[in-house]
Order: sequence, then C-alpha cells, then structure tokens
Amino acid sequence: MARAIDGLGDVLLEPAAIEQEVARLGAQISGDYADKHLHLVGVLKGSALFVADLVRELTIPATLDFISTVPYAEASASGVVRIRKDLDDPIEGKDVLVVEGICASGLTLSYLLRNFETRNPASLRVCTLLAKTRQRAPDLTLDYVGHAIPDVFVVGYGLDWDERYRHLPYIATLA
Ligand code: IMP
Ligand code: MG
Repeated sequence: MARAIDGLGDVLLEPAAIEQEVARLGAQISGDYADKHLHLVGVLKGSALFVADLVRELTIPATLDFISTVPYAEASASGVVRIRKDLDDPIEGKDVLVVEGICASGLTLSYLLRNFETRNPASLRVCTLLAKTRQRAPDLTLDYVGHAIPDVFVVGYGLDWDERYRHLPYIATLA
C-alpha cells in the first residue's frame, strides 16, 4: 500500500482490521435493535467514512442524519461545543444511535447527548470507532466501541489533521 505520504507515522489499523471491526459492530447493533427502526446520527466530518461502511453492515431498517459541530478548541477556550449544522429532522420518539469517528476527552459526545436528550428520543446510544484510553467526561457512556487506542493523535478513515488525511483507507499516527 502507498504509505509515502508526508507527515505520517505508524499505521495503527489496516483497512482489513477496520473492516472487521465495522462488521462486528454492525452485527452487534443489528442484533440489539432487531425489532426496531434505527436512526443514525453521524457527527461530521470525522465519522463520514465510518457511517458509510457501518450502515452497509446493518440488517435492520435505518435512516440517516448528520450533525456538525465547531471543534471546541476553535469555538472557545471553555470547553463549550457549538453546532455548525444541526440535524435535518426531529428525533422525538426515535431510536437514535450517535455515530462518531473518535472519542478523546468525550466533551463533544457528552454535549451532543445532553442536547439530544432534550429532544425526547425513544432511546439514545452512542457508537464510536475509536476511543482513546484516557480520562473521559465522567457522565459519558460509550455503548459501542470499535478500538481502544492510546492517547496519540491519529488520522485517516475520515479523521483529519487540519483537514488533511481524511481520505486514507487506514488509520495512522502523525510523524
Ligand atoms: P473530544 O471532544 O475530546 O472527545 O474530541 C472529539 C473530536 O476531536 C473528534 O470528533 C475529532 O474531530 C477530534 N479528535 C480528537 N482526537 C483526534 C485524533 O486523534 N485525530 C483526529 N481528530 C481527533
Ligand atoms: Mg478534526
């Protein structure tokens, strides 16, 4: 595989490993929501590739929506998350699964979950492909996790550094 890309370090997850994990999550989620209609909410842009692959592993009826947040580092210094693009549709009464590419401090997901709770979904869970093994927001439960990874910055498979590297089919550290 072409790895001669400037600025990349080690490959943490090869495409085959990602594929295996996504298939496992898809099967688990399909089983858990067997008699339900699942409403997935992807957190843009990092989850875009993950959502696209995950929905193709589902064997249950599903609908899709997306939300985009302003990274809190840019939005303010206070850890406040701001919504850049809100959901298209109401989630009241729906079985909602929030899909994120990576959870680090957990601030983004805890904010989104608190926000979504106020919109009265029938149920609300969260699925993240990657979770850093660091201290997370204490109120946050991750219902579905692909891989736990060390507290290093990673890119690829949707995840960026300064908008670069999202297109890579593998996940790598920065050099
Ligand atoms: P958290 O709010 O600290 O959990 O961070 C979540 C957001 O930060 C994610 O949605 C990503 O956009 C970004 N992020 C955190 N860690 C990484 C990383 O290692 N690579 C790329 N983006 C990251
Ligand atoms: Mg980013």
